[in-house]
Amino acid sequence: MRLKDCHNFQDFRRLAKRRLPGPIFNYIDGGADDEVTYRENTRTFDRCDLLPSVLRGVTDVDMSVTVMGQKLDMPIYCSPTALQRLFHHQGERAVAAAAEKYGTMFGVSSLGTVSMEELRQKHKNPQVYQFYFHKDRGLNSAMMQRAKEAGVEVMMLTVDSITGGNRERDLRTGFSIPFRLTLGGMIQFAIKPMWGINYVTHERFRLPQLDEHVDMGGGASSIGGYFTDMLDPSMDWDDVAEMVREWDGQFCLKGIMTVEDARRAAEIGCTGIILSNHGGRQLDGSRTPFDQLVEIVDAVGDKLDVMMDSGIQRGTHVLKALSLGAKAVGVGRHYLYPLAAAGQSGVERALGLMRAEIERDMKLMGVTRIDQLSRTNLRFRDTATSSGDVHRHTA
Ligand code: LAC
Repeated sequence: MRLKDCHNFQDFRRLAKRRLPGPIFNYIDGGADDEVTYRENTRTFDRCDLLPSVLRGVTDVDMSVTVMGQKLDMPIYCSPTALQRLFHHQGERAVAAAAEKYGTMFGVSSLGTVSMEELRQKHKNPQVYQFYFHKDRGLNSAMMQRAKEAGVEVMMLTVDSITGGNRERDLRTGFSIPFRLTLGGMIQFAIKPMWGINYVTHERFRLPQLDEHVDMGGGASSIGGYFTDMLDPSMDWDDVAEMVREWDGQFCLKGIMTVEDARRAAEIGCTGIILSNHGGRQLDGSRTPFDQLVEIVDAVGDKLDVMMDSGIQRGTHVLKALSLGAKAVGVGRHYLYPLAAAGQSGVERALGLMRAEIERDMKLMGVTRIDQLSRTNLRFRDTATSSGDVHRHTA
């Protein structure tokens, strides 16, 4: 199986699985507890159907959107994800370049492996900086200052990771934090020697967003220390309000799931929220962002930009989310498997296929612009659940 044989999410996943040592593949692929939420994130899109309109003249499709003050050529962006150079030696460099090629935004994680400054200097497309809230308020200010100086457009504070999710696949392989491979985990590294050769023949693994502030001398094992020693579980709305004031620009919260929290985000001056359950990696059994879209868009859609991530695998998933009022959607595993499978060409292929799917699906739906999508395009099958809401709103 080669890159040209990859036509969809599952194909890329299969190729990534072949290339990556098991513990790393399972770190990307896994979710929390029983992975119920992880599975549900994608299944939920199958509970509603698109209603196409015909004979609309759909020669020229414009799928651009403006979100968080940024014009994107397509309505999906690459969400920030951690440790990318562990998946492929090009890491964030590949993702940023591929996102630039497709005119979309990319995220850099505070657990990223290439510096936000380097990426900002090399690429023109908008950049999001994902960060966590530290006990040391001085450190929070310093990190925001650094992002400001780098020219990062959007700040994204992750609010659903106040403690790590229970990733049992990682416990089994030893890819846990702290990083302590089990014997089985070690064997899985040994049977993928190409990964190891690539890893040791490229630039040393670093976490450049953090190494100025935190002693990362212990490699991956220090990440555990970082979470428990440095992040502040007492973080509340007042703390975030202060950060929003200090940043004084595009600021969004990732991991909002209730109307009440969405309203508070708007009140403290956030310009965006991302409905997310962290790809099913945090609270298992929590509701899917797609199922929460309608009520949250109705409550705050006129006050800030509502986005969502978790579970997106297809162009039709994107169109369904946008039909319910999301301004854009984020993808994570959707570009991570391609990255692991083939570096930059993999990510470019995945984004290109997604772009082609969205364009084809828009034509088949009879729309040429994203703002022509609405709830009238969608019907839920099971009227006992969220469909009731949608029907009321569209009635
Ligand atoms: C994860 C964190 C690092 O999901 O975002 O693994």
